[in-house]
Amino acid sequence: MYEPVLKTNVFKITGNTYLLRLDDTETKFFEALWWIPEGVTYNAYLYVDESATILFDTWKKGYCDLFLNTLSKIVDVKDIDYLVIHHMEPDHSGCIPHVLKRNSNVRVLAHPLAKDMIKSFYSINNMKFKPVRDLEEVSLGNVKVKFMYTPWLHWPETIMSYLVNEKILFSGDVFGSFSIPEHVVVDRTTVSEEYIKFMRKYFIDVVGFYRHYVERNLKKILDLKLDIEIVAPLHGALWSDVDLVVSYYMKWARGEESANKIVVIYASMYGFVKEAINKLIELIKARDKNVEIIVYEISDSRRAEVSDILGDVIDSRAVILGASTYESRIFPYIEYIVDQLKYKANSAKPLIIVSSYGWGGVAGKLIKDKLSSTQFNIIEVIEFKGKVNDKVVNAFKEAVDKLLHTK
Ligand code: FEO
Repeated sequence: MYEPVLKTNVFKITGNTYLLRLDDTETKFFEALWWIPEGVTYNAYLYVDESATILFDTWKKGYCDLFLNTLSKIVDVKDIDYLVIHHMEPDHSGCIPHVLKRNSNVRVLAHPLAKDMIKSFYSINNMKFKPVRDLEEVSLGNVKVKFMYTPWLHWPETIMSYLVNEKILFSGDVFGSFSIPEHVVVDRTTVSEEYIKFMRKYFIDVVGFYRHYVERNLKKILDLKLDIEIVAPLHGALWSDVDLVVSYYMKWARGEESANKIVVIYASMYGFVKEAINKLIELIKARDKNVEIIVYEISDSRRAEVSDILGDVIDSRAVILGASTYESRIFPYIEYIVDQLKYKANSAKPLIIVSSYGWGGVAGKLIKDKLSSTQFNIIEVIEFKGKVNDKVVNAFKEAVDKLLHTK
């Protein structure tokens, strides 16, 4: 049987609010970067009562016929009074022109920066645009919506909004996730470990570079003491347990260790680095039987994906990097991973670098240099020619002792 790669859904989530969700297993690389065999959803929302019809965001560019068709199951596009835009990245703003083309009376509410983005992305010059102010509460018909600026989560124009009548916080990319969730709304009893893993992966891949904005923005929202029953992100499942989902985000934003796991990432062209890494893992396991070792291998038969690696690093206890020297520099795929670790998952974790070379070793030093301005705590750089020997094993033993005793 052939599996559909696109599925459209309409869920009624509260008295007057609908979730319009596209389940996308067609996109293989989110943002053309992040490998997502688990898929992703695009969530738009629609509020309908006798006084107002409000659309909150749209779907990704390229899926707009599906979007309009799904929307038409609830309302005629011509009946939409307001369009609230939380975020202009085209995975959500892509169908704005299709809505405005069919209904020029729609009043668009968004961050002031969004107006120029709409114009430059979609060549829309004439629209009824109302810039919203931070913490402004507006009445749309009988409906009250409060707007909060949340810059850099994920772009500068990003806002959240609180739908007072329905007690829903529309949170944008924040609290979103990869995968097609089993449950429309989750709480601590229904959320699975696997889903949390996809959520963490989404967080670090997409928002990781802006992690330091998370705490201040979330604190600002929490200080408002809104009575939130549902958190509604732009991807993945909705949450009915606000405290839990906020606590996950705070931990990931700080890069806190939440599991006794060590992430090992290595590339081995002909097996020398692999043999060394296996020796190192053996030594770690002999010292700490409870530690979980997550291995990401790059070789002539495997290709670990950076999107998964980042998700595992951020809540890990320690990291081990292994690479050979390649044309007088770092093995290229590891160099890319090191750059992404630096930009997205920079956090205070102990780290060992292992490197093997044929005639001249530079990769270990170059990796260390790349990470020198980060929070990673480089315990040891162990470079050697060819195979591991007794001297190298002794160096591994000392490094493992230090690693396991470093917080
Ligand atoms: Fe889901 Fe930043 O867009």
